[in-house]
Amino acid sequence: MQNLYCNKLNLNIPPLKEEYDVTSVTTPHTSVELDMIHPAMREWLDSLGITVPWIEIFYRKPGQHGGVHTDSIPGDFTKINWIYGGKNSKMIWYKITNSKALDRKPNTTSVETNYIAYAMSEVSPVYAEELLGAYLLQVGVPHIVLNPREDRYCLCFVLADKTGKRLTMPESYELLKDYINGAG
Ligand SMILES: [Fe+2]
Repeated sequence: MQNLYCNKLNLNIPPLKEEYDVTSVTTPHTSVELDMIHPAMREWLDSLGITVPWIEIFYRKPGQHGGVHTDSIPGDFTKINWIYGGKNSKMIWYKITNSKALDRKPNTTSVETNYIAYAMSEVSPVYAEELLGAYLLQVGVPHIVLNPREDRYCLCFVLADKTGKRLTMPESYELLKDYINGAG
């Protein structure tokens, strides 16, 4: 059944060319050139009508986190994330409980993407899951990743359609359902 926050993917296609080692990054937030997409991954995305406007990697040491945030404005936007390391790390999603937080303008990250940060007092948790491997994830709902034990590298493909419009979870789920655990 479709989960609005997180759906585990069965994917055996390498996301990036072999020459790019995700676990070699040393900065917390890294942008990856689109021509690093593995040809097999490119072919698969093309066959589904999915485009990837940008790719980024988040690297966190144990105990580090970036706080509760939405990627861009609040809404329904997805990514495919591949998580390397980060044993027992957990992603938690929240609903916004303070309506003033809904009007906040986005900030810009070091790699020129947008996000909005929220205080814990403005949100309340709605879902959590320990993530290992590849997932279709909701990033338009406030979320945080807690990483208690080991270095964690998260490779993110932002998902859009052929016109460049970002895909919602229902749209992404429909396109990817043959690759989602338990979907039918
Ligand atoms: Fe995020």
